Amino acid sequence: MARSLPLQRAACNLGRPIKLLPAKNMRTVGTLVISLPLVVVAASCASTGSAEGPPTDPPAAAPVAAPSDETAIFSQAQAERGRATFRAICAECHYSSEFRGTQFQFSWRRRSVADFFEEISSTMPEDAPGGLEPAQYLDVVAYVLELNGFPAGEGDLPLDLEALETHSMAAPPAGAARAR
Ligand code: HEC
Repeated sequence: MARSLPLQRAACNLGRPIKLLPAKNMRTVGTLVISLPLVVVAASCASTGSAEGPPTDPPAAAPVAAPSDETAIFSQAQAERGRATFRAICAECHYSSEFRGTQFQFSWRRRSVADFFEEISSTMPEDAPGGLEPAQYLDVVAYVLELNGFPAGEGDLPLDLEALETHSMAAPPAGAARAR
């Protein structure tokens, strides 16, 4: 019986549909996001081994699961549409420089892309809150991510709050764009 344990553990690891990345790239991911898949893996592994007594070695802590292009979550075209929308609408009252740099990044560092989307789409433009199409707000979010040094990727940000919730507004570590 004891012999099958390593195999079971390997199966648990193989069953994880998520690529591994060095911990260095994980700074932009909220702890909740990181821990969920690991908890699932730990639970399924623990249940297969429970009949044998306490597990001898816990799941390794070092590998952290996340999508590989963690920061490249919008496309260049989307950011450009967002810039046009920003200039046409938001720039009536805002400078784009309000949405980048130390102060902006500090106040948003612990919040998600979904939070930012929800804030602007429910409160802005101040004279017509919610007055734009959801896709237009999403474009502006892409533009703001670009302003803050996030690299553009293949696809547009999806209009899916659950997906956006898994991405942090915290600026990516310097060089994230070159790491790919
Ligand atoms: C008619 C003027 C006006 C327009 C147009 C406008 N805003 Fe605002 N916005 C404001 C005001 C006023 C505030 C509140 C500032 C404060 O309380 O510090 C604000 C606040 C914000 C904040 C919160 C700032 C922070 O520090 O968290 C964000 C984000 C924002 N606006 C984004 C946008 C975006 C994106 C658009 C375009 C879709 C937009 N605004 C259009 C007037 C405007």
